[in-house]
Amino acid sequence: MGEKLKLLGISGSPRRGNSLFLLERALKAAREDSGIDIETEAYSLVGKKFEPCKGCTKCQIDCIYDDHFLELREKWYRADSIIYSIPIYHMGIPGQLKCFIDRLGNNLWATTGGRPRKGMKTIGTIVQGAHISAGQEFCISFMMNHALVLGCLPVTGDPWEAYIGAGGWTLNSGDKDFLEKEVQREGYDAEVLINATESTAIRAVQIAYLLKQGALHSKDFMDRNPEFHLLLDRE
Ligand SMILES: Cc1cc2nc3c(=O)[nH]c(=O)nc-3n(C[C@H](O)[C@H](O)[C@H](O)COP(=O)(O)O)c2cc1C
Repeated sequence: MGEKLKLLGISGSPRRGNSLFLLERALKAAREDSGIDIETEAYSLVGKKFEPCKGCTKCQIDCIYDDHFLELREKWYRADSIIYSIPIYHMGIPGQLKCFIDRLGNNLWATTGGRPRKGMKTIGTIVQGAHISAGQEFCISFMMNHALVLGCLPVTGDPWEAYIGAGGWTLNSGDKDFLEKEVQREGYDAEVLINATESTAIRAVQIAYLLKQGALHSKDFMDRNPEFHLLLDRE
């Protein structure tokens, strides 16, 4: 394979906190332990603006808002694999990230007409909240649907820590550096979350590699099915 595989990490928190800490651990593990030559980029939503979609349906031309949407959309398109690291808000994903995802989905479909292009990337999710059983599985399931709707493959790490992705908690703390300190303290729950985080990121890259290799060896099929071209022509 010519170019390096691209892994984009997206931290969905509006602050530099636990999500970013976990994302950096995920990207490091993927670089060092996946066995694949990759380049990684961490994108944080801190200071970024994503207006809510207003349903104007002008996205056949392009999204009308002048905010950070296009910047992140281009990175999203170009990536072979995406890891989201997300704080739970009201048992779901934070509004800023939801605004991006709403617009991304419609924009990807609207600009292609006819047969929607398939995103053809792997997507893994890390979530954590202050509390236990307070939205972790719901958030991961939502992100799996996001992957499926956009023609991507949701991936998980190794059970038993990561049945559907990495989910954890901060033992009721609201501190933004709680997980970093808890890892240093070798707290059990934090250790489980780190294992899940790392194995999810490693698996995301490995499966993306297999997908891309498959496409490179399936020229006739790829020629006949343009909806899969994002896999090789990352825009
Ligand atoms: C608006 C808001 C809503 C939240 N809702 C939840 C929730 O439903 N469940 C939960 O476990 N934690 C909830 N939390 C706590 C955060 O998920 C938690 O503090 C997390 O560690 C923040 O991650 P960060 O440091 O990356 O920002 C909420 C926090 C905020 C600010």
